[in-house]
Amino acid sequence: MARAMALLWASALILVPAIVVAQDIGVNWGTIASHPLDPKIVVNMFKDNGIKKVKLFDAASNTLKALAGTDIEVMVGIPNLHLQNLAENYSYAQAWVKENITAHVGKEGVNIKYVAVGNEPFLASYNGTYTNSTFPAMKNILKALNEAGVGKDIKVSTPLNGDVYMTPTYKPSDGIFRGDIADIMGQICEFLQENDAPFVINIYPFFNLYQNPGFPKEYAFFDNNSSDFDDDGVKYHNVFDANIDTLVAALQKAKTPDLPIIVGEVGWPTDGNIYATKQNAKRFYDGLLKKMASNDGTPLRPKKNPDVYMFCWLDEDLKSIDPGLFERHWGIFSFDGQPKFPMDLSGEGQNKSLVGAKDVPYFEKQWCVHNKDAPNQEDLAVKIEWACNNTDCTTLVPGASCSDMGLDMNASVAFNMYYQMQNQAEAACDFQGLAKLVKQDPSNETCQFPIMIKQFESTSSAPEPSGSSSDSPGSDSSTHSLSPSLQHLLQIVVGICIFWFA
Ligand SMILES: *[C@@H]1O[C@H](CO)[C@@H](O)[C@H](O)[C@H]1NC(C)=O
Ligand SMILES: *[C@@H]1O[C@H](CO)[C@@H](O)[C@H](O)[C@H]1NC(C)=O
Ligand SMILES: *[C@@H]1O[C@H](CO)[C@@H](O)[C@H](O)[C@H]1NC(C)=O
Ligand SMILES: *[C@@H]1O[C@H](CO)[C@@H](O)[C@H](O)[C@H]1NC(C)=O
Ligand SMILES: *[C@@H]1O[C@H](CO)[C@@H](O)[C@H](O)[C@H]1NC(C)=O
Ligand SMILES: *[C@@H]1O[C@H](CO)[C@@H](O)[C@H](O)[C@H]1NC(C)=O
Ligand SMILES: *[C@@H]1O[C@H](CO)[C@@H](O)[C@H](O)[C@H]1NC(C)=O
Ligand SMILES: *[C@@H]1O[C@H](CO)[C@@H](O)[C@H](O)[C@H]1NC(C)=O
Ligand SMILES: *[C@@H]1O[C@H](CO)[C@@H](O)[C@H](O)[C@H]1NC(C)=O
Ligand SMILES: *[C@@H]1O[C@H](CO)[C@@H](O)[C@H](O)[C@H]1NC(C)=O
Repeated sequence: MARAMALLWASALILVPAIVVAQDIGVNWGTIASHPLDPKIVVNMFKDNGIKKVKLFDAASNTLKALAGTDIEVMVGIPNLHLQNLAENYSYAQAWVKENITAHVGKEGVNIKYVAVGNEPFLASYNGTYTNSTFPAMKNILKALNEAGVGKDIKVSTPLNGDVYMTPTYKPSDGIFRGDIADIMGQICEFLQENDAPFVINIYPFFNLYQNPGFPKEYAFFDNNSSDFDDDGVKYHNVFDANIDTLVAALQKAKTPDLPIIVGEVGWPTDGNIYATKQNAKRFYDGLLKKMASNDGTPLRPKKNPDVYMFCWLDEDLKSIDPGLFERHWGIFSFDGQPKFPMDLSGEGQNKSLVGAKDVPYFEKQWCVHNKDAPNQEDLAVKIEWACNNTDCTTLVPGASCSDMGLDMNASVAFNMYYQMQNQAEAACDFQGLAKLVKQDPSNETCQFPIMIKQFESTSSAPEPSGSSSDSPGSDSSTHSLSPSLQHLLQIVVGICIFWFA
């Protein structure tokens, strides 16, 4: 008995660090996928990995139902397309709160902690479309939450992109809100302060590197001080800290210096671009998680890191590739919930694997590959092009996981992806005889040939896999472009990107 107790204590002690750290670490859960995992499986993954905070981009009822009865803290999102109605029509806000908040909270309900009103609504690339509606929408949502009696427990904020602030001189200490929104940002900061709500900011060192030739690569990561930036004696070792402190300086100028900050999105993609590799993603997350564990804060906000939500949990194969071909590869897990690289959420840097999804209902173990024996090889290029027009070929671009493997491999990757996304329909593996089915997995270490997941039983509006070949997968995502896709378009934060000039 005593021995059993001792063992129990020992295992509790071992578990403690992982859980303590994981409390500050949340994840984004986006669902712009042709074959999404059953939300119940995803929620089990959160539990298995000790994830206690989850950020959503909408309020899909099957997602919320899967989170009900858990202690996971949830940030529910409202897509930008609702902002105008929410701003102009209080009944609309009441209805939104009733259907998407009140219906899900309470005993055995969802632990909703925040409502994120809009998603990066002040992106410069939106040309001011949401400038006038965002703040009134936030006020109406809060009013409706208060009226429903939950306004004390559920905080209202809006996730913003780093392009809401800038530094004319590239120093974090000179951070200031962008001129065209300075006034509205001042009002929003005051509102957040009055209501004890956080400022939610999305930070992407990957974009600093991707968009700016000459950006010092080491500065995007956390583990090498070779590109330190000196801000009048204050040293910055990584662009993440510098970005947060640019916001802190802007908050000081807006007279809300102590507003709590949450990093709503931070992460690194793993495919579709030369910088988007598993090695770089692992290096980035290792550094980020170590930083989270040390709780060192930033020079302007020492000793306490903000909560961060990693972007994101799963790959999403229907996201718009306008921001870049890596857009469908932001997951720390593949679309089917398999870990891509070792990751120690405790920040202790151990070579641990995340816990993957269990009981995933895959289609048959069969793949569609190039048939080298077909007589009409001269048609191959156009067939590949057609397949790629109708499926996801982002693993074939230069620097991506299936690139540089020759025409035969190109054809197999494209044909297989098309066939699998068509739910293994027989007619989808033909290409005038240029394709054939095989039972042996053509994947290797670098290049994966995925098999899709069967549709889960659902009463709500999960995206249906497209049945017709003329449906380009990309076309679906335009209605979703206001969630996690277009947000990246204008990621350049002038001041922060050009530190190396200083
Ligand atoms: C306001 O929103 C409510 C609830 O969605 C809707 O029934 C009503 O038609 C809207 N009013 C206007 C003027 O759009
Ligand atoms: C509740 O949220 C869902 C998903 O974001 C949305 O489609 C629906 O319109 C919302 N309900 C109301 C009444 O606004
Ligand atoms: C913003 O303006 C630019 C240039 O006029 C245009 O190309 C772009 O489509 C506009 N974007 C939106 C979201 O209206
Ligand atoms: C926002 O409001 C200002 C001042 O009322 C107005 O000049 C501007 O055109 C509005 N912007 C949009 C996009 O409606
Ligand atoms: C980077 O600098 C920090 C602070 O001076 C120091 O704690 C850390 O050990 C340095 N890291 C490396 C890899 O030199
Ligand atoms: C840090 O980066 C510099 C410049 O890229 C490189 O020369 C050096 O080897 C790196 N050091 C470590 C410890 O990675
Ligand atoms: C980490 O663990 C994996 C799987 O257990 C193993 O294949 C790999 O070699 C390990 N890496 C290191 C650096 O120990
Ligand atoms: C692929 O799409 C492009 C752009 O829409 C189009 O020009 C081209 O003809 C398509 N190729 C095939 C083989 O369908
Ligand atoms: C995977 O297969 C391709 C094509 O056969 C080959 O070019 C590549 O080197 C292989 N990669 C590994 C890691 O075996
Ligand atoms: C493979 O496909 C990629 C992307 O479509 C293309 O850039 C590359 O040239 C192709 N390689 C071969 C050998 O056809």
